Amino acid sequence: MLEERIAEERAAEERIIEERAAEERIIEERAAEEGIIEERAAEKKDIAGKRKENAAVVSQEELAEGIFSMWIHTEAAQSAKPGQFISMYTNDNSKLLPRPVSICEIDRKAGNLRAVYRVTGKNTGTEQFSRLRGGDTIPIIGPLGNGFPLEKAQGKKVFLIGGGIGVPPILELAKQTVCVKKQIVVGYRDKNTFLREEFEENGVLYISTEDGSVGTRGNVLDAVRENALEADVIYACGPAPMLRAVKSYAEERNIVCYVSLEERMACGIGACLGCVCKTIERDLHSNVHNRRICKDGPVFLATEVEL
Ligand SMILES: Cc1cc2nc3c(=O)[nH]c(=O)nc-3n(C[C@H](O)[C@H](O)[C@H](O)COP(=O)(O)OP(=O)(O)OC[C@H]3O[C@@H](n4cnc5c(N)ncnc54)[C@H](O)[C@@H]3O)c2cc1C
Ligand code: FES
Repeated sequence: MLEERIAEERAAEERIIEERAAEERIIEERAAEEGIIEERAAEKKDIAGKRKENAAVVSQEELAEGIFSMWIHTEAAQSAKPGQFISMYTNDNSKLLPRPVSICEIDRKAGNLRAVYRVTGKNTGTEQFSRLRGGDTIPIIGPLGNGFPLEKAQGKKVFLIGGGIGVPPILELAKQTVCVKKQIVVGYRDKNTFLREEFEENGVLYISTEDGSVGTRGNVLDAVRENALEADVIYACGPAPMLRAVKSYAEERNIVCYVSLEERMACGIGACLGCVCKTIERDLHSNVHNRRICKDGPVFLATEVEL
């Protein structure tokens, strides 16, 4: 009897897993289709008020193993804000969807933007980007998303927190933040602390590394605790577990906290719903507890989103 029940439960579990996998496949196919449609539309006219543009690669260098820094010359530099991102396209027809990459630095005078990104593996879009050199071109759309609300920092003690590949957008944020105390807390895997010198020029820097080779051993909050740091406002970007920990740290201390979410994206312009996150409040437009990270975010008040 008991064995039969266990077998039935296992079969039901397997059915649920199969159904979920089928649902995910359908979502991926739809997102890919939307990507194709959007890409074709973009070639002809503006989409969501943003024009796809062939940006010129100004320079490219490898900052640390697998971490690349690319400066591009683009119209997007004129209106870009810290915390926004650009969608970068490959020139490979088998990869239709763009790759969202944060704006790491803005040089409005020269009309240039800097993207710092990790190559995620062989034959990926990011690997293709890493082969581009000065003089090449790259199709992009941007700037996209909302960016960090810089005005909340005025007159306050601030943490600018970045972890992993959430570190790059913290640089332009650090350059533009005007506040009483600017504490940059960035977390890396190991001694490859890319962008370190630029951070040191733009605030007081605290580093954590997973292997303890530089700064505090552990994560960004370990560095905050070890240095007895305090803040009134937090801006953070990084992987979901880090953002979850930062959110609960802020909630326990009543600190205003903004998080920039990195979610898998498809169209990148609000059309396919491939990037929704769960929100506490209902979205007035769609009447659901969902917001699109690419269009409504990627920056949200931490108390507004479920992480
Ligand atoms: C708002 C935002 C800002 C980001 N900023 C940076 C940054 O500054 N530097 C950086 O290195 N990475 C950043 N990422 C992550 C980056 O987009 C992915 O690493 C990249 O898209 C992976 O592409 P791929 O060709 O290497 O991988 P593939 O596995 O070939 O990608 C397949 C598809 O999945 C999508 N995808 C895969 N991983 C992610 C991911 N983590 N987030 C979103 N889409 C994904 C790709 O865009 C592509 O459509 C950001 C992501 C978001 C959402
Ligand atoms: S990626 Fe399509 S709606 Fe956000």
